[in-house]
Amino acid sequence: MKFTMWAFVGLVIYTVLIDFLLYRLFLKSRTEHPPHFKFPYGAFWHYSIASFFIFSFGILYTLITITKTSTTYVVFQWFMMAYMLIYIPKAFYYLTQKIVGRFHLVKHKFDDKGKIKKMNEGKYPKISRKKFLSQVGIITASIPFVSLMFGVIKGRFAFSKRYTKLSFPNLPDSFDGLKIVQISDLHLGSLNSNYQEMEEAVMLINAENPDIICFTGDLVNNFYEETIGWEKVFTKLQARLGKYSIMGNHDYGDYSKWPSAEAKAENLQNIKNAHHRLGFKILNNASSIIEFNGDKIAMAGVENWGHPPFPRYGNLEQASEGIDGVPFKILMSHDPDHWDAEVVPQTDFDLTLAGHTHGMQFGLEFKGFQWSPAKYKFKRWAGLYQADKQFLYVNRGLGYLGMPARVGMPPEITIIELTRGPISNDPM
Ligand SMILES: [Fe+2]
Repeated sequence: MKFTMWAFVGLVIYTVLIDFLLYRLFLKSRTEHPPHFKFPYGAFWHYSIASFFIFSFGILYTLITITKTSTTYVVFQWFMMAYMLIYIPKAFYYLTQKIVGRFHLVKHKFDDKGKIKKMNEGKYPKISRKKFLSQVGIITASIPFVSLMFGVIKGRFAFSKRYTKLSFPNLPDSFDGLKIVQISDLHLGSLNSNYQEMEEAVMLINAENPDIICFTGDLVNNFYEETIGWEKVFTKLQARLGKYSIMGNHDYGDYSKWPSAEAKAENLQNIKNAHHRLGFKILNNASSIIEFNGDKIAMAGVENWGHPPFPRYGNLEQASEGIDGVPFKILMSHDPDHWDAEVVPQTDFDLTLAGHTHGMQFGLEFKGFQWSPAKYKFKRWAGLYQADKQFLYVNRGLGYLGMPARVGMPPEITIIELTRGPISNDPM
């Protein structure tokens, strides 16, 4: 609730500030005020577009805390998309005008009246300073616009497989070569009815012939009804030794007000049942022993455990009951913060699988370089981490939330192959 309010306040400040600065910029570059209704320079458009978004988000932020339907999330995410498509390029345009305008070289090309200097005949195009800056601004602003459009049209379903090979000396012989596929953060309500796209993800997963499939939480945004219809897609997932799942912070119905405690409990129970209906064995502070050729490994799962404002229902002690003597142990815990806070200091789980961060659905990754705003919020935000003999893998999520797009942070299918040998990792 508190977060929702601050998110709205931040949005209002950003919107008013960007429009105010841009309007001032336009007025400064003109000798006369543009007509009131001239699009897009007229004052009317500056006030009305900003007012429209502020008013709409005011309603949506209020609705989202009291709504009883997942449709509100869908409406919200498309409003957010429209807003970002307009207001992020605006900021790029403004900053470009200010920064490029200050460059000595750019200043040097034009005289005091903004006309291009008659120097280096033919080197510079015949263009005024105002027009030059405006064109550079438009080009820069089109970068986030095109990227976001690509993220909506293609990026959100451009599934990416990421392979990792891990070696452990304590992995039983029969499990040498075990292939685990991890998926996370489906947020079915956001996917709406894009069944066909997710069928493709299921096909890509099955093509790996996984031994075990792990789904590390956030099946829904908030409501049980989001899961209806998805069994026809996810029951097609195939894994020789089992399909396991856990709950994420969004699976408790905590993000809206309920008419009664019973209604909330019913929603929660229905979400738990949906994990089963979709073909997963849900591990709620519980574990399961996987036996093969007389050897054993343990698969444990905790309920969500996060730092505030995220809920803390996870109980490691309970999840670890009965698996003490098992030589190799895997843990599923939705929030990667749990690994540093409890898993590493208190347990000997060899491998922990987490999700939650979504890589903020935005970032840059190439040849060993990784950047995303997620890194300022989460210590472990994507990929593989090691602490002595323990490993953590953070999946970037298969679905999306908030903005229906992924830019430079494609939906992820993780494939982890376990081998017996000296402790090591080899991102493939
Ligand atoms: Fe999530």
